[in-house]
Amino acid sequence: MNLFIKNIGQLVTVASLGKRVKTGSDMRELHIHTNASLLIENGIITAIGGPELLYPEDIDVIDAEGKVVLPGFVDSHTHTVFAGSRENEFAMRSEGKTYQEIAEAGGGILSTMRATREAGKRDLYRLAERRLNTMLRNGTTTVEIKSGYGLSPESEMKILEVISELKRDHYVTVVATFLGAHAFPPEYKDDKQGYVDRICDYMLPYVAEKKLATFIDVFCETGYFDLKMTEQIILEAKRRGLIPKIHADQLNAIGAVELGARHNAISVDHLEKTNGEGIAALKNSQTIATVLPGCSLFLNHPYAPARKMIDEGIPLAIATDFNPGSQMCSSMQMMLTLACTQMQMTPEESITAATLNGAAALGLSNDIGSIEIGKQADVVLYSVHDYRFIPYHYGTNHVWKVVKSGVLLDF
Ligand code: NIG
Ligand code: FE
Repeated sequence: MNLFIKNIGQLVTVASLGKRVKTGSDMRELHIHTNASLLIENGIITAIGGPELLYPEDIDVIDAEGKVVLPGFVDSHTHTVFAGSRENEFAMRSEGKTYQEIAEAGGGILSTMRATREAGKRDLYRLAERRLNTMLRNGTTTVEIKSGYGLSPESEMKILEVISELKRDHYVTVVATFLGAHAFPPEYKDDKQGYVDRICDYMLPYVAEKKLATFIDVFCETGYFDLKMTEQIILEAKRRGLIPKIHADQLNAIGAVELGARHNAISVDHLEKTNGEGIAALKNSQTIATVLPGCSLFLNHPYAPARKMIDEGIPLAIATDFNPGSQMCSSMQMMLTLACTQMQMTPEESITAATLNGAAALGLSNDIGSIEIGKQADVVLYSVHDYRFIPYHYGTNHVWKVVKSGVLLDF
Protein backbone atom coordinates (compact mmCIF):
# COMPACT_ATOMS: atom_id res chain seq x y z
CA MET A 1 0.00 0.00 0.00
CA ASN A 2 3.07 2.27 0.47
CA LEU A 3 5.16 2.73 -2.61
CA PHE A 4 7.63 5.17 -4.08
CA ILE A 5 7.99 5.37 -7.86
CA LYS A 6 11.13 7.18 -8.97
CA ASN A 7 12.76 8.08 -12.24
CA ILE A 8 9.50 8.54 -14.19
CA GLY A 9 10.28 9.92 -17.66
CA GLN A 10 6.80 11.40 -18.16
CA LEU A 11 4.29 11.46 -15.33
CA VAL A 12 1.06 12.20 -17.21
CA THR A 13 -1.19 13.37 -14.37
CA VAL A 14 -4.31 14.53 -16.32
CA ALA A 15 -4.81 16.85 -13.34
CA SER A 16 -8.27 18.38 -13.23
CA LEU A 17 -7.43 20.84 -10.43
CA GLY A 18 -10.76 20.25 -8.73
CA LYS A 19 -12.96 20.16 -11.83
CA ARG A 20 -15.44 17.30 -12.20
CA VAL A 21 -14.71 16.88 -15.90
CA LYS A 22 -12.47 18.46 -18.51
CA THR A 23 -13.93 20.26 -21.53
CA GLY A 24 -12.74 22.16 -24.62
CA SER A 25 -9.05 23.07 -24.77
CA ASP A 26 -8.57 21.85 -21.18
CA MET A 27 -8.84 18.29 -22.57
CA ARG A 28 -5.43 18.85 -24.21
CA GLU A 29 -3.79 19.88 -20.94
CA LEU A 30 -2.30 16.73 -19.42
CA HIS A 31 -0.12 18.44 -16.76
CA ILE A 32 2.95 16.30 -17.43
CA HIS A 33 5.90 16.19 -15.01
CA THR A 34 9.22 15.00 -16.46
CA ASN A 35 11.88 13.19 -14.44
CA ALA A 36 9.28 12.80 -11.71
CA SER A 37 8.69 10.83 -8.53
CA LEU A 38 5.46 9.70 -6.92
CA LEU A 39 4.77 8.82 -3.29
CA ILE A 40 1.85 6.54 -2.45
CA GLU A 41 0.76 5.91 1.15
CA ASN A 42 -2.16 3.74 2.25
CA GLY A 43 -3.29 3.46 -1.36
CA ILE A 44 -3.49 7.23 -1.81
CA ILE A 45 -1.20 9.58 -3.75
CA THR A 46 0.47 11.76 -1.11
CA ALA A 47 3.29 13.54 -2.98
CA ILE A 48 4.36 14.34 -6.53
CA GLY A 49 7.79 15.80 -7.18
CA GLY A 50 11.14 15.60 -8.93
CA PRO A 51 14.24 13.49 -8.21
CA GLU A 52 14.71 15.31 -4.90
CA LEU A 53 11.37 14.11 -3.44
CA LEU A 54 11.98 12.49 -0.04
CA TYR A 55 10.44 9.18 0.94
CA PRO A 56 10.33 7.00 4.08
CA GLU A 57 13.27 4.60 4.42
CA ASP A 58 11.30 1.36 4.76
CA ILE A 59 9.13 1.83 1.66
CA ASP A 60 9.05 -0.31 -1.51
CA VAL A 61 10.64 1.53 -4.43
CA ILE A 62 10.00 1.08 -8.14
CA ASP A 63 12.58 2.49 -10.55
CA ALA A 64 10.51 3.52 -13.60
CA GLU A 65 13.67 3.69 -15.74
CA GLY A 66 12.55 6.84 -17.52
CA LYS A 67 9.29 5.29 -18.73
CA VAL A 68 5.78 6.78 -18.91
CA VAL A 69 3.15 6.71 -16.14
CA LEU A 70 -0.57 7.37 -16.75
CA PRO A 71 -3.68 7.22 -14.55
CA GLY A 72 -5.42 3.84 -14.89
CA PHE A 73 -8.02 3.85 -17.65
CA VAL A 74 -11.66 4.12 -16.60
CA ASP A 75 -13.80 2.05 -18.97
CA SER A 76 -17.20 3.56 -18.25
CA HIS A 77 -19.31 1.41 -20.62
CA THR A 78 -19.02 -2.38 -20.92
CA HIS A 79 -21.19 -5.51 -21.06
CA THR A 80 -18.54 -7.79 -19.54
CA VAL A 81 -20.81 -10.44 -17.95
CA PHE A 82 -22.10 -12.77 -20.67
CA ALA A 83 -21.85 -16.37 -21.82
CA GLY A 84 -21.30 -17.70 -25.34
CA SER A 85 -19.84 -15.87 -28.32
CA ARG A 86 -20.99 -14.63 -31.73
CA GLU A 87 -18.17 -15.24 -34.19
CA ASN A 88 -20.85 -16.63 -36.55
CA GLU A 89 -22.39 -13.13 -36.74
CA PHE A 90 -18.96 -11.60 -37.26
CA ALA A 91 -18.50 -13.91 -40.27
CA MET A 92 -21.99 -13.03 -41.59
CA ARG A 93 -21.16 -9.29 -41.40
CA SER A 94 -17.96 -9.95 -43.34
CA GLU A 95 -20.20 -11.21 -46.13
CA GLY A 96 -22.40 -8.11 -46.08
CA LYS A 97 -25.17 -8.80 -43.54
CA THR A 98 -25.83 -5.86 -41.21
CA TYR A 99 -26.02 -5.83 -37.40
CA GLN A 100 -29.74 -5.02 -37.60
CA GLU A 101 -30.49 -7.81 -40.13
CA ILE A 102 -28.77 -10.36 -37.92
CA ALA A 103 -30.69 -9.14 -34.84
CA GLU A 104 -34.01 -9.28 -36.72
CA ALA A 105 -33.28 -12.88 -37.73
CA GLY A 106 -33.06 -13.90 -34.04
CA GLY A 107 -29.34 -13.37 -33.52
CA GLY A 108 -27.85 -10.35 -31.79
CA ILE A 109 -28.62 -9.60 -28.15
CA LEU A 110 -31.14 -12.49 -27.94
CA SER A 111 -28.50 -14.98 -28.99
CA THR A 112 -26.31 -13.95 -26.04
CA MET A 113 -29.41 -13.88 -23.82
CA ARG A 114 -30.01 -17.59 -24.55
CA ALA A 115 -26.44 -18.54 -23.66
CA THR A 116 -26.41 -16.33 -20.56
CA ARG A 117 -29.73 -17.66 -19.24
CA GLU A 118 -28.35 -21.19 -19.48
CA ALA A 119 -25.08 -20.40 -17.71
CA GLY A 120 -24.65 -20.88 -13.98
CA LYS A 121 -23.43 -18.07 -11.74
CA ARG A 122 -20.06 -19.73 -11.23
CA ASP A 123 -19.39 -19.97 -14.96
CA LEU A 124 -20.48 -16.38 -15.56
CA TYR A 125 -18.20 -15.26 -12.73
CA ARG A 126 -15.18 -17.16 -14.07
CA LEU A 127 -15.68 -15.85 -17.61
CA ALA A 128 -16.00 -12.25 -16.45
CA GLU A 129 -13.11 -12.56 -14.00
CA ARG A 130 -10.80 -13.59 -16.84
CA ARG A 131 -12.00 -10.66 -18.94
CA LEU A 132 -11.33 -8.25 -16.06
CA ASN A 133 -7.84 -9.73 -15.65
CA THR A 134 -7.14 -8.96 -19.30
CA MET A 135 -8.43 -5.41 -18.92
CA LEU A 136 -6.24 -4.84 -15.86
CA ARG A 137 -3.16 -6.12 -17.72
CA ASN A 138 -4.02 -3.64 -20.46
CA GLY A 139 -4.14 -0.67 -18.10
CA THR A 140 -7.83 -0.44 -17.14
CA THR A 141 -8.31 -0.10 -13.38
CA THR A 142 -12.04 0.78 -13.23
CA VAL A 143 -14.78 -0.95 -15.25
CA GLU A 144 -18.50 -0.28 -15.44
CA ILE A 145 -20.46 -3.48 -16.16
CA LYS A 146 -24.06 -3.60 -17.37
CA SER A 147 -26.53 -6.43 -16.97
CA GLY A 148 -28.81 -6.86 -19.98
CA TYR A 149 -28.28 -10.41 -21.27
CA GLY A 150 -30.79 -12.00 -18.92
CA LEU A 151 -33.98 -10.06 -19.71
CA SER A 152 -36.01 -11.89 -17.05
CA PRO A 153 -36.12 -11.06 -13.35
CA GLU A 154 -34.19 -14.22 -12.35
CA SER A 155 -31.48 -13.98 -14.96
CA GLU A 156 -31.00 -10.21 -14.71
CA MET A 157 -30.58 -10.61 -10.94
CA LYS A 158 -28.17 -13.51 -11.52
CA ILE A 159 -25.99 -11.21 -13.65
CA LEU A 160 -26.18 -8.33 -11.15
CA GLU A 161 -25.19 -10.70 -8.34
CA VAL A 162 -22.17 -11.84 -10.36
CA ILE A 163 -21.25 -8.18 -10.88
CA SER A 164 -21.56 -7.59 -7.11
CA GLU A 165 -19.27 -10.54 -6.40
CA LEU A 166 -16.69 -9.27 -8.88
CA LYS A 167 -16.97 -5.86 -7.24
CA ARG A 168 -16.22 -7.47 -3.88
CA ASP A 169 -13.39 -9.75 -5.06
CA HIS A 170 -11.55 -8.27 -8.01
CA TYR A 171 -8.69 -5.80 -8.00
CA VAL A 172 -10.48 -3.80 -10.70
CA THR A 173 -12.96 -1.27 -9.30
CA VAL A 174 -16.31 -2.50 -10.66
CA VAL A 175 -19.39 -0.29 -11.05
CA ALA A 176 -22.80 -1.89 -11.76
CA THR A 177 -25.50 -0.74 -14.18
CA PHE A 178 -28.95 -2.33 -14.54
CA LEU A 179 -29.77 -2.70 -18.25
CA GLY A 180 -32.90 -4.83 -18.11
CA ALA A 181 -34.12 -2.59 -20.94
CA HIS A 182 -31.57 -3.91 -23.45
CA ALA A 183 -34.02 -5.81 -25.70
CA PHE A 184 -37.46 -7.39 -25.48
CA PRO A 185 -37.28 -11.03 -24.36
CA PRO A 186 -39.24 -13.64 -26.37
CA GLU A 187 -41.85 -13.96 -23.56
CA TYR A 188 -42.88 -10.35 -24.17
CA LYS A 189 -42.49 -10.27 -27.96
CA ASP A 190 -46.13 -9.24 -28.37
CA ASP A 191 -46.45 -7.23 -25.17
CA LYS A 192 -43.59 -4.76 -25.13
CA GLN A 193 -45.29 -2.41 -22.72
CA GLY A 194 -45.80 -5.39 -20.43
CA TYR A 195 -42.03 -5.88 -20.25
CA VAL A 196 -41.47 -2.19 -19.50
CA ASP A 197 -44.01 -2.41 -16.68
CA ARG A 198 -42.31 -5.56 -15.38
CA ILE A 199 -39.01 -3.64 -15.23
CA CYS A 200 -40.59 -0.70 -13.44
CA ASP A 201 -42.91 -2.54 -11.06
CA TYR A 202 -40.86 -5.62 -10.21
CA MET A 203 -37.21 -5.53 -11.25
CA LEU A 204 -36.29 -1.94 -10.39
CA PRO A 205 -37.67 -2.06 -6.81
CA TYR A 206 -35.61 -5.22 -6.18
CA VAL A 207 -32.43 -3.81 -7.74
CA ALA A 208 -32.78 -0.62 -5.70
CA GLU A 209 -33.60 -2.37 -2.45
CA LYS A 210 -30.70 -4.81 -2.72
CA LYS A 211 -28.42 -2.03 -3.97
CA LEU A 212 -27.43 -4.15 -6.96
CA ALA A 213 -26.71 -1.21 -9.27
CA THR A 214 -25.65 2.43 -9.18
CA PHE A 215 -26.92 3.26 -12.68
CA ILE A 216 -29.90 2.47 -14.89
CA ASP A 217 -29.42 2.21 -18.65
CA VAL A 218 -31.89 1.83 -21.55
CA PHE A 219 -31.25 0.93 -25.22
CA CYS A 220 -33.39 3.75 -26.67
CA GLU A 221 -33.63 2.87 -30.34
CA THR A 222 -36.06 2.14 -33.19
CA GLY A 223 -37.36 -1.39 -32.65
CA TYR A 224 -36.13 -1.43 -29.05
CA PHE A 225 -37.26 0.96 -26.27
CA ASP A 226 -38.96 4.07 -27.62
CA LEU A 227 -38.80 7.53 -26.04
CA LYS A 228 -41.92 7.06 -23.95
CA MET A 229 -40.79 3.70 -22.54
CA THR A 230 -37.31 5.06 -21.89
CA GLU A 231 -38.73 8.02 -20.01
CA GLN A 232 -40.99 5.77 -17.93
CA ILE A 233 -38.03 3.58 -16.91
CA ILE A 234 -35.73 6.51 -16.18
CA LEU A 235 -38.29 8.30 -14.03
CA GLU A 236 -39.02 5.17 -12.00
CA ALA A 237 -35.29 4.47 -11.58
CA LYS A 238 -34.58 8.03 -10.47
CA ARG A 239 -37.38 7.82 -7.95
CA ARG A 240 -35.60 4.79 -6.51
CA GLY A 241 -32.19 6.45 -6.41
CA LEU A 242 -30.55 5.08 -9.56
CA ILE A 243 -28.72 7.44 -11.89
CA PRO A 244 -29.64 7.32 -15.59
CA LYS A 245 -27.47 6.55 -18.60
CA ILE A 246 -28.85 5.94 -22.11
CA HIS A 247 -27.68 3.97 -25.16
CA ALA A 248 -28.51 6.83 -27.54
CA ASP A 249 -28.33 7.54 -31.29
CA GLN A 250 -26.48 4.32 -32.13
CA LEU A 251 -28.53 3.41 -35.21
CA ASN A 252 -31.07 6.25 -35.48
CA ALA A 253 -31.40 9.71 -33.94
CA ILE A 254 -34.87 9.44 -32.35
CA GLY A 255 -34.40 12.02 -29.60
CA ALA A 256 -32.67 9.83 -27.00
CA VAL A 257 -29.86 12.33 -26.44
CA GLU A 258 -32.32 15.17 -25.89
CA LEU A 259 -34.28 12.96 -23.46
CA GLY A 260 -31.10 12.13 -21.54
CA ALA A 261 -30.07 15.77 -21.33
CA ARG A 262 -33.54 16.76 -20.14
CA HIS A 263 -33.51 14.14 -17.37
CA ASN A 264 -29.97 14.94 -16.30
CA ALA A 265 -28.53 11.57 -17.37
CA ILE A 266 -24.93 11.31 -16.17
CA SER A 267 -24.00 10.20 -19.69
CA VAL A 268 -25.49 9.39 -23.06
CA ASP A 269 -23.48 6.75 -24.88
CA HIS A 270 -22.77 5.72 -28.52
CA LEU A 271 -23.89 8.89 -30.44
CA GLU A 272 -22.88 7.60 -33.89
CA LYS A 273 -25.95 9.31 -35.40
CA THR A 274 -26.11 12.41 -33.19
CA ASN A 275 -27.01 15.52 -35.16
CA GLY A 276 -27.19 19.26 -34.47
CA GLU A 277 -30.22 18.95 -32.20
CA GLY A 278 -28.51 16.39 -30.00
CA ILE A 279 -25.39 18.52 -29.82
CA ALA A 280 -27.46 21.59 -28.89
CA ALA A 281 -29.20 19.63 -26.12
CA LEU A 282 -25.88 18.42 -24.71
CA LYS A 283 -24.45 21.93 -24.77
CA ASN A 284 -27.18 23.06 -22.41
CA SER A 285 -26.71 20.20 -19.96
CA GLN A 286 -24.27 18.55 -17.55
CA THR A 287 -24.57 15.23 -19.41
CA ILE A 288 -21.35 13.62 -20.63
CA ALA A 289 -21.11 12.38 -24.21
CA THR A 290 -19.53 8.91 -24.13
CA VAL A 291 -18.29 7.75 -27.51
CA LEU A 292 -17.52 4.13 -28.36
CA PRO A 293 -15.23 4.08 -31.40
CA GLY A 294 -14.60 0.32 -31.19
CA CYS A 295 -18.24 -0.25 -32.02
CA SER A 296 -17.99 1.85 -35.19
CA LEU A 297 -14.89 -0.06 -36.27
CA PHE A 298 -16.35 -3.49 -35.57
CA LEU A 299 -19.76 -2.87 -37.21
CA ASN A 300 -18.40 -0.60 -39.96
CA HIS A 301 -20.73 2.16 -38.76
CA PRO A 302 -20.07 5.91 -38.78
CA TYR A 303 -18.07 7.40 -35.90
CA ALA A 304 -19.63 9.76 -33.35
CA PRO A 305 -18.93 13.46 -34.08
CA ALA A 306 -16.44 13.69 -31.21
CA ARG A 307 -14.38 16.52 -32.75
CA LYS A 308 -17.43 18.74 -33.07
CA MET A 309 -18.60 17.90 -29.56
CA ILE A 310 -15.25 18.80 -27.99
CA ASP A 311 -15.09 22.03 -30.01
CA GLU A 312 -18.59 22.89 -28.75
CA GLY A 313 -17.40 22.47 -25.15
CA ILE A 314 -19.33 19.25 -24.47
CA PRO A 315 -17.62 16.97 -21.91
CA LEU A 316 -16.60 13.80 -23.71
CA ALA A 317 -15.50 10.34 -22.52
CA ILE A 318 -14.31 7.27 -24.44
CA ALA A 319 -15.14 3.69 -23.49
CA THR A 320 -14.85 0.26 -25.13
CA ASP A 321 -18.50 -0.96 -25.06
CA PHE A 322 -16.90 -4.41 -24.73
CA ASN A 323 -19.60 -7.00 -25.59
CA PRO A 324 -19.90 -10.19 -27.68
CA GLY A 325 -21.91 -8.62 -30.52
CA SER A 326 -20.92 -5.12 -31.50
CA GLN A 327 -17.47 -4.75 -29.92
CA MET A 328 -15.27 -7.66 -28.90
CA CYS A 329 -12.16 -5.70 -27.85
CA SER A 330 -11.43 -4.67 -24.27
CA SER A 331 -8.30 -2.60 -24.88
CA MET A 332 -8.57 1.08 -24.01
CA GLN A 333 -5.17 1.57 -25.69
CA MET A 334 -6.84 0.53 -28.96
CA MET A 335 -9.69 3.01 -28.30
CA LEU A 336 -7.11 5.81 -28.05
CA THR A 337 -5.80 4.87 -31.48
CA LEU A 338 -9.31 4.88 -32.97
CA ALA A 339 -10.07 8.25 -31.35
CA CYS A 340 -6.95 9.75 -32.92
CA THR A 341 -7.22 8.15 -36.37
CA GLN A 342 -11.01 8.05 -36.88
CA MET A 343 -12.46 10.90 -34.81
CA GLN A 344 -9.78 13.58 -35.23
CA MET A 345 -9.03 13.71 -31.52
CA THR A 346 -5.49 14.44 -30.36
CA PRO A 347 -3.60 11.90 -28.23
CA GLU A 348 -3.99 14.31 -25.30
CA GLU A 349 -7.76 14.58 -25.73
CA SER A 350 -8.12 10.83 -26.08
CA ILE A 351 -6.16 10.19 -22.86
CA THR A 352 -8.30 12.71 -20.95
CA ALA A 353 -11.47 11.11 -22.36
CA ALA A 354 -10.29 7.64 -21.27
CA THR A 355 -9.29 8.61 -17.72
CA LEU A 356 -10.65 11.70 -15.94
CA ASN A 357 -13.73 12.08 -18.12
CA GLY A 358 -14.51 8.35 -17.93
CA ALA A 359 -14.35 8.67 -14.14
CA ALA A 360 -16.76 11.62 -14.36
CA ALA A 361 -19.17 9.49 -16.43
CA LEU A 362 -19.30 7.19 -13.37
CA GLY A 363 -19.51 10.03 -10.84
CA LEU A 364 -16.07 9.04 -9.50
CA SER A 365 -13.78 11.82 -10.70
CA ASN A 366 -13.24 13.11 -7.15
CA ASP A 367 -11.37 9.90 -6.33
CA ILE A 368 -9.96 8.45 -9.56
CA GLY A 369 -9.13 9.35 -13.18
CA SER A 370 -6.06 11.51 -12.54
CA ILE A 371 -2.80 11.42 -10.59
CA GLU A 372 -3.28 14.12 -7.98
CA ILE A 373 -2.59 14.36 -4.28
CA GLY A 374 -5.43 12.81 -2.29
CA LYS A 375 -6.65 10.59 -5.11
CA GLN A 376 -6.66 6.78 -5.17
CA ALA A 377 -3.32 5.45 -6.48
CA ASP A 378 -4.46 3.73 -9.69
CA VAL A 379 -1.37 4.26 -11.84
CA VAL A 380 -0.04 2.36 -14.81
CA LEU A 381 3.55 2.21 -16.03
CA TYR A 382 4.13 1.78 -19.76
CA SER A 383 7.23 0.49 -21.58
CA VAL A 384 7.43 3.63 -23.72
CA HIS A 385 9.31 6.93 -23.46
CA ASP A 386 6.60 9.24 -24.85
CA TYR A 387 2.89 8.89 -24.04
CA ARG A 388 1.99 9.46 -27.70
CA PHE A 389 3.72 6.20 -28.57
CA ILE A 390 0.80 4.31 -26.92
CA PRO A 391 -1.88 5.16 -29.53
CA TYR A 392 0.75 5.39 -32.27
CA HIS A 393 2.05 1.82 -32.04
CA TYR A 394 -1.34 0.17 -31.97
CA GLY A 395 -2.57 -3.39 -31.62
CA THR A 396 -0.03 -4.19 -28.93
CA ASN A 397 -0.11 -3.91 -25.15
CA HIS A 398 2.45 -1.38 -23.85
CA VAL A 399 1.67 -1.88 -20.14
CA TRP A 400 4.74 -2.69 -18.01
CA LYS A 401 3.37 -2.58 -14.45
CA VAL A 402 0.00 -1.82 -12.86
CA VAL A 403 -0.44 -0.25 -9.43
CA LYS A 404 -4.02 -0.53 -8.20
CA SER A 405 -5.03 1.35 -5.04
CA GLY A 406 -1.34 1.49 -4.16
CA VAL A 407 -0.72 -2.24 -4.66
CA LEU A 408 1.82 -3.30 -7.28
CA LEU A 409 0.08 -6.16 -9.08
CA ASP A 410 1.96 -9.30 -9.81
CA PHE A 411 1.38 -10.68 -13.30
O1 NIG B 1 -23.88 -1.21 -26.83
N1 NIG B 1 -26.63 -1.48 -28.62
C1 NIG B 1 -26.93 -2.19 -27.71
N2 NIG B 1 -26.15 -2.98 -26.96
C2 NIG B 1 -24.78 -3.31 -27.24
C3 NIG B 1 -24.65 -4.42 -28.19
C4 NIG B 1 -25.13 -5.64 -27.58
C5 NIG B 1 -24.96 -6.87 -28.42
O2 NIG B 1 -24.96 -6.82 -29.66
O3 NIG B 1 -24.84 -7.92 -27.79
C6 NIG B 1 -24.01 -2.08 -27.67
O4 NIG B 1 -23.52 -1.98 -28.79
FE1 FE C 1 -23.34 -0.80 -24.94
